[in-house]
Amino acid sequence: MIGVIVVAAGSGSRLGHPEPKALVEVAGRSILEHSLRAVFSMPSAVQVIVVAPRSHLDFARELAVAVAGAAAGHLTVVPGGPTRQQSVLAGLSALDDDVRIVLVHDAARAFTPVAQFERVASAVEMTRGGVIPALPVTDTIKLTDAAGSVIRTLDRSELAAVQTPQGFPRDRLMAAYASATQEYTDDAALFSAAGLPVSMVAGDVLAFKITTAWDLRRAEALVAEAAQHLQEVRTGVGMDVHAFDATRPLWLGGLLWPGEPGLAGHSDGDALCHAICDALLSAAGLGDIGARFGTTDDRFIGAHGDVFLLETVALVTAAGFRIGNVAAQVVARHPKLSTRRIEIEAHLSALVGAPVSVSATTTDGLGFTGRGDGLAVMSTALISRDR
Ligand code: CTP
Ligand code: MG
Repeated sequence: MIGVIVVAAGSGSRLGHPEPKALVEVAGRSILEHSLRAVFSMPSAVQVIVVAPRSHLDFARELAVAVAGAAAGHLTVVPGGPTRQQSVLAGLSALDDDVRIVLVHDAARAFTPVAQFERVASAVEMTRGGVIPALPVTDTIKLTDAAGSVIRTLDRSELAAVQTPQGFPRDRLMAAYASATQEYTDDAALFSAAGLPVSMVAGDVLAFKITTAWDLRRAEALVAEAAQHLQEVRTGVGMDVHAFDATRPLWLGGLLWPGEPGLAGHSDGDALCHAICDALLSAAGLGDIGARFGTTDDRFIGAHGDVFLLETVALVTAAGFRIGNVAAQVVARHPKLSTRRIEIEAHLSALVGAPVSVSATTTDGLGFTGRGDGLAVMSTALISRDR
């Protein structure tokens, strides 16, 4: 079995938050929870040992148990020590008897892909030595003295930036820890100092360590971007045409237009509301207004645009969608939309629960809209839902 020790007991002095670093939140979840999500999605059976700040032990346990879910039986939470090395040691002492391979992981590397854990574990299996994930160094690195003078430039091709998890055969790691007489910044250094071999596998940029405030912002941006990829975004299109009927009042955009010739139709003829309904239904893949609100349904005889719109929004949201925005363009000689555009947009936005923008145009005297026989409206809608 594989044992994963997640060290999370540091204070995070360089991050500068009042609470320990592992409990600082990124996008509403603690760094500890983010890092444990990868660990608990490993396909092989693992014992997970979380080394938590002594001051927040119970809280850290609660968070870890929640991420572990059904795997909570394979979770142990122990308090850490004053240095990283002592925290790892505390974790090692909690290993189950049947653990053969140990992966030591920094909780601060909260977005390490699960593939990196697997890569390291299988390389330990093969080599029986220490294994570290590493990336090539891209900056030129200088050796300097305490006064800040450059002594020399190091050969970049000989350098590697090292990450976690670092993997080891359990017995060899225990022996190395037992013989350690000084503090090292990572487990591989301690392992090498005991004369044991360490090899490298490919690291991943996502396994960066959250150390400074800038890293935390980068982490926030990563989560936001990932959330976008998990969104299903859809657009829709709708159109409606009604003939003018001067004997009726004009209802357009859910508003009454006194003194303007009205529109013919089974309902109130509000082509603007109807086109928006069609755009929303089309975006959601829910058919169209004719199919949804048949002319035989009493509720819709003479009904105002508002009724159709609210009913459509209910259908679209019931299918799990959020409405991003709606745009509509009225093609007509009259009414003059610009006089009430702000009012229409406010009214429709309130009904839809998202921004609705309305524009208007004429057709240069051409066609039925140009002659003034009727009015046409085109609309688009953008909606999204979680995948
Ligand atoms: N760590 C630990 N126990 C310690 C010190 C560090 O378990 N006494 C853990 C940290 O929680 C972190 C990992 O070791 O997940 C890597 O350490 P680092 O990024 O340096 O974290 P901190 O020591 O907390 O941060 P800082 O050095 O800025 O204080
Ligand atoms: Mg530290």
